[in-house]
Amino acid sequence: MTPDPQISAPQQRENPDPHEQAHPVPWSMRLLVAMLLVFCMAYITAADIETPAAWGDGREADELGGGKTTGAAKVDGAALFSSLCAACHQANGQGLPGVFPPLAGSEWVQGQASTAAAIVLHGVHGHLMVRGHPFNGTMPAFGGQLSDEQLAAVLTHVRSQWGNTAAPVSLETVAQARAAHQQRTAPFEGDKDLPAHD
Ligand code: HEC
Repeated sequence: MTPDPQISAPQQRENPDPHEQAHPVPWSMRLLVAMLLVFCMAYITAADIETPAAWGDGREADELGGGKTTGAAKVDGAALFSSLCAACHQANGQGLPGVFPPLAGSEWVQGQASTAAAIVLHGVHGHLMVRGHPFNGTMPAFGGQLSDEQLAAVLTHVRSQWGNTAAPVSLETVAQARAAHQQRTAPFEGDKDLPAHD
C-alpha cells in the first residue's frame, strides 16, 4: 500500500480505531439470567397469601382476597358515624341545642338497643324529649341504605362514645328490629309513637 501523502508519518504509525465486533453474551451469563427468572416465577407461585402482612405492604389476607378468605372485612362504625350522622349530631355527639338532639348521654341511644335500632332504621319526626329537652325535627331513615351489619356497627359506636357506656348492638338485634317494624313506611311520629327506651 502506498502511503497517502495527506497522512503524516506519526498518524500512519497509529493503530486503526477499534470498532465493536459481534460478541455473543457468554453462556454463563445467559444461564444466570435464566436461573433468576425461574427462581422468581417459582417464588411468586409458591408465595402463600397467609404470610404475615408485615412481610409485604401491610394488607391482611382478608383485604387481598376481597373478604372471601375469612369472612367480610369489619365494618367501621366510627367511619359510618362521621359520614352519615356527624353532620347533624356533630362529631362530639352533642347535637345542636334546639335543632339536633345529643347522642351523648341520650336515653334513646343508651336504652333498649332495639329502640335505638328502630330510630335509625325508620327515622323520627315530631316531638321528641331527649335528656329533658324537647326536640321537634326530622331524623332521616337509614334502613334502606344500611345493612344490618352497618347499622349494628354505627349503633355500637354511638353507644360507646362521649361517655356512653351501653352494650354493643348485635347484628341479630338489628335484624329483629327490622323484622318487627317491616310494615312501617313512614318515620316514627315522635316519642309517643316509638317503643319505650327502657
Ligand atoms: C339530617 C340530620 C340528621 C342525621 C343525618 C341523623 N340524625 Fe339522628 N336525629 C336528627 C333529629 C332532628 C332527631 C330528632 C327527631 C325529632 O325531633 O323527632 C334525631 C334523633 C336521633 C336519635 C334519638 C334521639 C337522641 O338524640 O338520642 C338517635 C338515636 C339518632 N338520631 C341517631 C342517629 C344516627 C346513629 C345517625 C346516623 C346513622 C343519625 N341519627 C343521623 C337528625 C339527624
